Amino acid sequence: MSSILVNLIRFMRRMKQLARNEYSAFVLRFFPDRWRWFEKNISQFERRGVLQAYEKPFVSFETTDICNLNCIMCETWSATRTKGIMKMDDFVGHLDRIQALGQNSVAFHTIGDPLMDKEVGEKLRLCYERGIEVDLRTNGLLLDKYLSVIVKYPPGRLRISIDGGTKETYERIRVRGKFDKLLANLNLLKGAFVKHRILCELGVDMVVFGENLHEIPIFYQVFHPYFKLTHMHFHIINSLSGDHGDFFDKEKLSSFSQPVPPCKMPFTSLFILHDQRVSVCCRDYHEELIVGDLKNETIEQIWSGKSIHALREAHEQAKSTPSNLPRACRECYSPTEHTAQVIDVFIHQVLQKSISKYGIKDLPIDQMATEIRTYLERLSEQKLLEKNQHTVGNH
Ligand SMILES: C[S@@+](CC[C@H](N)C(=O)[O-])C[C@H]1O[C@@H](n2cnc3c(N)ncnc32)[C@H](O)[C@@H]1O
Ligand code: SF4
Ligand code: SF4
Repeated sequence: MSSILVNLIRFMRRMKQLARNEYSAFVLRFFPDRWRWFEKNISQFERRGVLQAYEKPFVSFETTDICNLNCIMCETWSATRTKGIMKMDDFVGHLDRIQALGQNSVAFHTIGDPLMDKEVGEKLRLCYERGIEVDLRTNGLLLDKYLSVIVKYPPGRLRISIDGGTKETYERIRVRGKFDKLLANLNLLKGAFVKHRILCELGVDMVVFGENLHEIPIFYQVFHPYFKLTHMHFHIINSLSGDHGDFFDKEKLSSFSQPVPPCKMPFTSLFILHDQRVSVCCRDYHEELIVGDLKNETIEQIWSGKSIHALREAHEQAKSTPSNLPRACRECYSPTEHTAQVIDVFIHQVLQKSISKYGIKDLPIDQMATEIRTYLERLSEQKLLEKNQHTVGNH
């Protein structure tokens, strides 16, 4: 395909994406009760209530599971799977595989940082030239090293994970992260994107929990020069880490979470790991959810194979026989999409309302922080109360 055509397709896709995001933001701002409509569109799977395997999986890559950080809510260093980087030849084979499935976008991450892969530039180039949109998620601390390739072969979405509005909180959560380095990288990125008029959806993800709940307004004030409010995503913490143990259990906002199984992942998704094995989940810290190996099977064989079938059965019977689930799934907790969406929308509303009333420079940071904290803590206490009543009722 000529490069003009590739660029045109990418441009059209980007426009569609931006239009959809802007539209959602508009609806949610002026018709807040319409979040139900929003949710209906994104969580049909949850509503269907029937676990049915998709005809074809949605495939993601793990270009590497190595990370330069060990954030407290992720603890990727606790993973016992081998650490490594996806070989170039394997990567090319996997691109052929996803294109044969008719897939035209791919994420690079599981529990590592894609920028820890020295060949990430070459991988971005290959995707770009094939018209495959990359969803690149990173902690952003190595952006300076790969800025020129990102500008030359921009991913479809570039999402930076930042969980604090101050140096102190950021560095406490993102262990080994450097706040000043992050800001310097964001300035470089912004400069390059403006100069080269890069059409890439640039977003930021904040995991919200007790450590940083009070910093949401300051987070907005510090990072608004780099990210639009509509591209700021606030996620309530889940038990991502395979060993959530103490940390997650003691966390107040974990009360928003509930056991995930039955889970849609074995019915919808495959993750090609750096060593060619295939898992159904991005949070497979201890290789408990491996369902095949591309060294000796095809994607189609894996998708209809015995291992994934057994896992699907275990999920279908999750409520009656949880003991059949792998440990990773038994110990997996997350807010429902419904809850996650309500909270994200609420935070956006508080921010938007105050920005309109006071302007960004004069935001009443403390007052806004109190409003968000009070709301979330009250909700989380209610949720906890409900859970306890439910547990007592079951005895
Ligand atoms: C596991 S990271 C991998 C990509 C990259 N290293 C990064 O930090 O963006 C993917 C996303 O998971 C988020 N995450 C980590 N721990 C989490 C948790 N306990 N609950 C919810 N999201 C979490 C990160 O903040 C990040 O946005
Ligand atoms: S959240 Fe991302 S940056 Fe932090 S430890 Fe996990 S993989 Fe690494
Ligand atoms: S660990 Fe299991 S339950 Fe949790 S997201 Fe992965 S597949 Fe689903």
